[in-house]
Amino acid sequence: MNRQWLYARPPAGKIGPDTFQWTETAIPAAKEGEALVRTRLLSLDPANRAWMMGKTYRDALEPGQVMSGFAIGEIVESRSPGLKPGDIVEGDWGWQDYAAVPARRLVKRTTKAPLEMLIGPLSVTGLTAYFGLLEVGRPKAGDTVLVSAAAGAVGTMVGQIAKLSGCRVVGTAGGADKVEWLVRELGFDAAVDYKAPGLRRALAAACPDGIDVYFDNTGGPVLEAALSLMNLRGRIACCGNVSQYDVDKPAPGPMAVPGLVVTKRLRMEGFIVMDFYDQRAVAEARLARWVEQGRIKAIVDVIDGLENAPQALVGLFEGRNRGKCAVRVA
Ligand SMILES: NC(=O)c1ccc[n+]([C@@H]2O[C@H](COP(=O)([O-])OP(=O)(O)OC[C@H]3O[C@@H](n4cnc5c(N)ncnc54)[C@H](OP(=O)(O)O)[C@@H]3O)[C@@H](O)[C@H]2O)c1
Repeated sequence: MNRQWLYARPPAGKIGPDTFQWTETAIPAAKEGEALVRTRLLSLDPANRAWMMGKTYRDALEPGQVMSGFAIGEIVESRSPGLKPGDIVEGDWGWQDYAAVPARRLVKRTTKAPLEMLIGPLSVTGLTAYFGLLEVGRPKAGDTVLVSAAAGAVGTMVGQIAKLSGCRVVGTAGGADKVEWLVRELGFDAAVDYKAPGLRRALAAACPDGIDVYFDNTGGPVLEAALSLMNLRGRIACCGNVSQYDVDKPAPGPMAVPGLVVTKRLRMEGFIVMDFYDQRAVAEARLARWVEQGRIKAIVDVIDGLENAPQALVGLFEGRNRGKCAVRVA
């Protein structure tokens, strides 16, 4: 059987168990030009929730469809000349054991690395950190780089790449344990618990020379505090807005922000990782080398069982993960 999670209904406020519906159906057969893929690992991403809010860089989710999501899998059967059984591929075929997918929507992975690395640090997560920081943030040695959701998938990679670039690195994360871990385990110079009172004061103390690059994963209060601490000609790489995804309606804004952008001559630039995929091979090779040499710790938080995917996504918004959150399906 093919076990699946369907997207059942738009959440009113936070996602919960009734956002999804479990179903079991027959394993599909691959048609001409398709391959049958068996899911090995599912990537859990804050964007899974954002896709429920309407059109983003992709179409909004429709109730009744298989829940979308990026995954790594193994080809079981192929009716496409470029793919053969046993090949490892990535793509967005959703929360299910098997899918028949057009070959053009699959990317064959040939990098020799454990699948846990290929689902995050050596794929979308690592590439998002790499391109967002180096191409959009453009840090120089000696700069102060601030990253929010620093203990998460993208944030852990951003902080470590910024350290390799010779920067002073500060992160924000939820809770005393996480901020202590960022400094002790990942070599951040300082970290601030954004859930504790006095966020702006704590950030100012952690960034005594101001902020040159802010890698924004969260929007919300951290963005607001960071803006006021940005240095002249600072860069804000807008990667995501996780503080505003799991809500009924995102907070309104911006109001006073443009004034700060003008007077400080800031560059605030959004990006989607795919914008840089023409440089993917080089970036992936560099990331793989850094991980292999132990210069970057690739942190992956794996939860077992497709049946646990909804709870794992809820957990992302409660900050239960450290590093890349993935679900092992097979
Ligand atoms: N632009 C792109 O191409 C691209 C690609 C991939 C990801 N992204 C974005 O990158 C960001 C990080 O994604 P990720 O995959 O690395 O996720 P992640 O950081 O591994 O997981 C989400 C983290 O966000 C934090 N969080 C949850 N609710 C929050 C809130 N209300 N305010 C502040 N922090 C909150 C939690 O950590 P705490 O314990 O610290 O709260 C949680 O661990 C997201 O905004 C995502 O949409 C963008």
